[in-house]
Amino acid sequence: MSFLTLKDVSFQYPNGFKAVNQVNMSFERGEAVAIIGQNGAGKTTTVKMMNGLQKPTEGDVLVDGWNTKDYTTAQISRKVGYVFQNPDDQIFHNDVYSEIEFGPKNLGLSPEQVEENVMKSAELAGVVPFLKENPYNLPYSMRKFVTIASVIAMNSSVIILDEPTAGQDLKALERLSNLIKTLNDEGKTVITITHDIEFVVHHFERVIVMANQQVIADANKREIFWDFDILEKAMLKQPHISRLSNSLKIDGDILEITELTERLKRKTAKV
Ligand SMILES: Nc1ncnc2c1ncn2[C@@H]1O[C@H](COP(=O)(O)OP(=O)(O)OP(=O)(O)O)[C@@H](O)[C@H]1O
Ligand SMILES: [Mg+2]
Repeated sequence: MSFLTLKDVSFQYPNGFKAVNQVNMSFERGEAVAIIGQNGAGKTTTVKMMNGLQKPTEGDVLVDGWNTKDYTTAQISRKVGYVFQNPDDQIFHNDVYSEIEFGPKNLGLSPEQVEENVMKSAELAGVVPFLKENPYNLPYSMRKFVTIASVIAMNSSVIILDEPTAGQDLKALERLSNLIKTLNDEGKTVITITHDIEFVVHHFERVIVMANQQVIADANKREIFWDFDILEKAMLKQPHISRLSNSLKIDGDILEITELTERLKRKTAKV
């Protein structure tokens, strides 16, 4: 059985709108998975059900054998950590250190262990220089890293990042890549929602596509980004290099620049 499973899950908001409709997905330990899709597709609502922030109105979410209906969000977040799409919905302390230490402290860890977790996650997220700062004095992009650090500090098996790439510059994206890789290498499952297709191509193999409150594809990135039917349904563009290869009529379902140069080399060698 998978570590995390959504089984025929739907979610209806109190106003009657069904934001998630009959969704199935499952994740193993140590996986890195991207979830993509247009605004309003149902991505955030789906992942909020993975750590119990929302409970499905139909179907079941199973985390390490627990049905989320039977547990509190506090209990489930020991296993599945969720970094909010908007950091301002998550931050509630007046200094970065307190914000990050809140989670591990609540887990009942020893003061030494709490400090170790705080420092390790602050370092990974690049927020060590700001530990004494008020998070609200930091720019949005850095506040996002503060919220990432506070979730990592809880050392949960699954970490969900909701739009971590939004508003980040190249240096921050590099830090994010390194962070995802480090967590993965530690055996953690990392689920990332993003609108940044290039980031997906560079960091993930498995991609889940949502459109109109449903999952319309769950496959390897190469299958997804060369399936024009899926891309059209989800109103997604191909990665830059795929578009270029396509217009040059170079086959091989290319996603990355190295693949394109390799193909071109072989093509010119034949001439
Ligand atoms: N509290 C709410 N009450 C009613 N409808 C809501 C509520 N929150 C979200 N929705 C609606 O549910 C749908 C799915 O929202 P959700 O936030 O899950 O989408 P998303 O895929 O994460 O979008 P985005 O890319 O913009 O973050 C949207 O149409 C949204 O307007
Ligand atoms: Mg969202």
